[in-house]
Amino acid sequence: MKKLLLLLIIFSITSCKTKVNTATPSAKKTGLIAEKAMVVSARKEASDIGLAVLKKGGNAFDAMIATEMALAVVYPYAGNLGGGGFMVYRKADGQTGTLDYREKAPLLSTKDMYQDENGEVISHLSKVGGMAVGVPGTVAGIFAVHEKFGSMPMAEILEPVIALARNGYVVTANQEASLGRYRENFVRVNRDSIFYSKNFAEGDTIRNLALARTLERIAENGRDEFYNGPTGEKIIAYLQRHGGIMSLQDLREYQSFWRDPIHVKYNNLNVISMAPPSSGGIVLGQILKMIEGFPLEKYGHNSVEMIQVMTEAERRAYADRSFYLGDPDFVDIPVEVLLSDKYLNGRMDNFSFSKATPSSEMEHGAITAKESMETTHYSIVDQFGNAVAATTTLNGAYGSKLYVEELGFFLNNEMDDFSAKPGVPNMFGLIGAEANSIAPGKKMLSSMTPTIVEKKGKLWLVLGSPGGSTIITSVLQTILNVEEYNMSMQEAVDAPRFHHQWLPDEILFEPNAFAPDVLNTLRIKGYHINEGESTIIGKVDAIRVLPDGKLEGGADRRGDDTAAGF
Ligand code: DON
Repeated sequence: MKKLLLLLIIFSITSCKTKVNTATPSAKKTGLIAEKAMVVSARKEASDIGLAVLKKGGNAFDAMIATEMALAVVYPYAGNLGGGGFMVYRKADGQTGTLDYREKAPLLSTKDMYQDENGEVISHLSKVGGMAVGVPGTVAGIFAVHEKFGSMPMAEILEPVIALARNGYVVTANQEASLGRYRENFVRVNRDSIFYSKNFAEGDTIRNLALARTLERIAENGRDEFYNGPTGEKIIAYLQRHGGIMSLQDLREYQSFWRDPIHVKYNNLNVISMAPPSSGGIVLGQILKMIEGFPLEKYGHNSVEMIQVMTEAERRAYADRSFYLGDPDFVDIPVEVLLSDKYLNGRMDNFSFSKATPSSEMEHGAITAKESMETTHYSIVDQFGNAVAATTTLNGAYGSKLYVEELGFFLNNEMDDFSAKPGVPNMFGLIGAEANSIAPGKKMLSSMTPTIVEKKGKLWLVLGSPGGSTIITSVLQTILNVEEYNMSMQEAVDAPRFHHQWLPDEILFEPNAFAPDVLNTLRIKGYHINEGESTIIGKVDAIRVLPDGKLEGGADRRGDDTAAGF
């Protein structure tokens, strides 16, 4: 009897154990799950407005316009009317495309405009104040989207956005900190206090009436209000008082472009991403193809081998970026060769697991961005099956810091994305060459990587990130986290990230998130480890279509990012 009892106890313990063991691996932390439609963006207010447009029967493109403009209201850090961006879409019928609404260099720009008489780069000129500002593309972008795909009147789409600007939004803790950090800069650069230099604290409500009026005029008068009307005139007048070189002609001539996406196959995935003038799609595609033959899953997530393979592929792809990529309307880019198996197979030939491949002897600067959040990405899937991935930016935090008080928005400092001089790094430590030199009317090379991934021909992921040069590697890791490491969308977005960009020759790690022995082993193999320069790498907002057709949101834990769905 005693024996039987003992046996029973042992059995119940082991069966209990078995249950726990089998349950654990599938107990994933998931993001918001929705039946039909979802918007994930940097702020709850913007996600909610995008979703409200969908609920009213609008499509993903209507929601894109609403979300983009809502971010300009609640997230002036990066959301904008005075900047630009890129959108990648996939319609329910599988048709794909992209919109380039990137800024461009004013007509009075010159190749050496940021150099002094000795040829030394005057770094701040491309970063703050009038000379840093590229011709804004965002308003052209939303009108291009509306004209091609919009299903609701522009005024109806903008109505809740205008109400948000008028009725106000509540300051978050992150926002209080960020506004505080730049308050003195705002006053210095604008030579006066501005609306956003007030002491806003967490919990305060910000009502931006000037922006509400600007949006009202745009809703009423259309694209011309901005590019050939009173709003444009005010921008130019303000810029000219602050050392800018942009003219009304620049605004009148601005155009956004519909461009073919970059398509890359990885395993059974089809990755659809942004083409030049963003480097995002090509660099992401090169890295994916260079690592495709390695058993990443077997190495384990964030293991030494996985970090080595990815770092070495990143090093090679970013070296190509620096030399070959620029505005396709100005330079010939050998896109097909850069993405061909023949070329890419050869690129990893000199890689060995025993030690790091040194970058070059070239001079480089340190990456100065401490927090990679100064751009913003949002992802949308609508109830009809259309998907939109859009990344939009002022470049640095609050762009050039120039704020047109009367209009209620900041102007970008996108000119810093050009290569001011071959070999001299920009604010992201990126080095460029002739392909990305400044010329009148040329678009500066971007790293923005709005991306849509199909699995077995069906919509699977919609994602993107801010983070300057680290955008591409943040998108890369998020895709791999789901594909190779079987993470949920939320886990994939939250997982710690690392980054290498050829020069500076170092791997940037999010601090205190990687095993010390992994970092030590990498050091022994000759890798330069930079853990702590950047508190975060990227801020990914993503959506995954689950096997049952429901949607899972991944809203990055690194910010105030929020998924909304129904
Ligand atoms: O287009 C680009 O690559 C940059 N202007 C993006 C800037 C950015 O992500 C800022 N965030 N750190």
